[in-house]
Amino acid sequence: MCGIVGYIGTQQAAPLLLEGLARLEHRGYDSAGVAVLGSGGLKVAKRAGRVRDLADGLPKRFGGKIGIGHTRWATHGPANDANAHPHTDEAARVAVVHNGIIDNAAALRAELADDGIVLASDTDTEVLAHLIARSGAATLEQRIAEALGRVEGTYGIAVAHADFPDRLVVARNGSPLIIGVGDREMHVASDLAALVRYTTTVAHLDDGEMATITAGGFTTYSLGRLEATGRTELMATDRRAKEVDIDPAAYDAGDHDSFMHKELLEQPARAEAVLRGRLDDRFGTGHLGGLNLDARELRGIRRVKILGCGSAYYVGQMGASLLEELARIPADAEPASEFRYRNPIVEHDTLYVAVSQSGETIDTLLAVQEVQRKGGRVIGLVNVVGSAIARQVDGGIYLHAGPEVAVASTKALTNMFLAFAMLAVQLGRVRDLSIADGRRLIAGLTRIPEQVDQVLATEAELAVVAKRLAEAENLFFVGRVRGFPVAREGAQKFKEISYRHAEAYQTSELKHGPLALISPEVPTVAIVPDDELVERNVAALHEIAARGGPLVVVTHAGVDLGDLERPGGGVVGRIDVPRNERELDPILLTIPLQVLAYHAALELGHDIDKPRNLAKSVTVE
Ligand code: AGP
Repeated sequence: MCGIVGYIGTQQAAPLLLEGLARLEHRGYDSAGVAVLGSGGLKVAKRAGRVRDLADGLPKRFGGKIGIGHTRWATHGPANDANAHPHTDEAARVAVVHNGIIDNAAALRAELADDGIVLASDTDTEVLAHLIARSGAATLEQRIAEALGRVEGTYGIAVAHADFPDRLVVARNGSPLIIGVGDREMHVASDLAALVRYTTTVAHLDDGEMATITAGGFTTYSLGRLEATGRTELMATDRRAKEVDIDPAAYDAGDHDSFMHKELLEQPARAEAVLRGRLDDRFGTGHLGGLNLDARELRGIRRVKILGCGSAYYVGQMGASLLEELARIPADAEPASEFRYRNPIVEHDTLYVAVSQSGETIDTLLAVQEVQRKGGRVIGLVNVVGSAIARQVDGGIYLHAGPEVAVASTKALTNMFLAFAMLAVQLGRVRDLSIADGRRLIAGLTRIPEQVDQVLATEAELAVVAKRLAEAENLFFVGRVRGFPVAREGAQKFKEISYRHAEAYQTSELKHGPLALISPEVPTVAIVPDDELVERNVAALHEIAARGGPLVVVTHAGVDLGDLERPGGGVVGRIDVPRNERELDPILLTIPLQVLAYHAALELGHDIDKPRNLAKSVTVE
């Protein structure tokens, strides 16, 4: 949440900062701002709205070769000009951009106000600018360290100071901060997306680390607190920049109208990437080296607890089904955001699995830390290499989905499912899963990329169904057992970008209450795979149709919907997905729901990649 950029070098900073911010806008898009340090001192421009609004309104004379910028997702105070970053002290000599939350901001604001400081915003960040300005320490680094020593919470910050015009200082605690090394210039960003056009030589700061950045290089320190004095001390660290293997084009939408569309269509290739080298047909098992668990430890697992948020939680539910069916290990998924607040019992023979595309979701990260504090072992299913969760866990499976920019997650979610399937097969094969079943599933997994492609090839037909659904203010998504998390994910994607009220229910639960809401104005998207529940599912469809509810049925060819498909019978759309092994059905049933959500949002004219009120990485609790 929130994007940070910085630049110091030989070029004018403002255009580079604006370009970087535009590439980070998916992290927050309530307001944006930049500060540059030039011959006239520190200049700040900031406003509510998008980066393009900021660029359009930038003063003509906005020169300076050092600068910082920010794109915001509001936490403290509404999205207005005053609350936009950068924030400064009263004399406007220090400018700060911040990603994270300062938990003791209210107390610090009160203390500053008591001292006669007039605060210009409602934000937590502003206190940092005043605390830095009030420090009497000799160096900028020490002033910032002192200020950070007063702060409780999370931060990634970049600071420019008019009295230190040769440097930027950045620091990290819980929110990502990356330094990019160029030719006589240096870049800063909270996400590689803003850097890769300029450099692929980067250094990721660790939590508790600070860096001084000049045009010629950077030096890093750790922020330690001296027990005796309570003062924050700076101790040099030896962080070096490394090359990252990333194609800058991965961060461009290319010919697509949105990143979401590009990412939808990338799914077959990305699915191949996550499976590559990890399927062992000879022994009918998965080959997941990064788990850091040997066969004896795998056999010792008595339970699996999956932790994730939003779509990562829903795919966690799909993963729990796979683990129970294939490995016969009791498994369940829980929203990571709730986990640590119920004083969870952490058992040593439970395997905890943290699922996150970004690897930054603070709720998931804190849940991981809660498990580890109590002695539990956590593996991660994470997409972003080197992210906070990836670094925190004890082992894991990288998702290889490539950069995902659209707020609505698609390709990462698909790869989460495939990673769970491989994990379930591998765990199953050191237990009761037969080699024949293992091979059957490995073969099924191998077919998935091609089958995802087949579903995506029906986009034009799905667009017609989506148009019909977009007309409704309220919708149900229903499914049973394996199909229920599919319905939940379908509803999530639909509401996220179409802003329609889409509610997921177990099909079996409709008659216990929600059936009262069924009417000709409320369509139901029903997940009806050709499995052991198909007859019961079809019976429930009749109950919906009998109340005039229009039906869109996501199913398999050959499933007989009988009268329901006759004119006026209830079915207004039928989507047949390719058959695979039943256990793997959920992902093929999910793909058309992603496409429906995308086309409904397109039909309604929404900003598909930046849905209102949301942001790509949720780094606040
Ligand atoms: C997915 O479409 C959503 N934007 C959201 O639910 C997301 O899955 C959730 O915030 C978790 O994000 P993560 O995978 O980066 O941890």
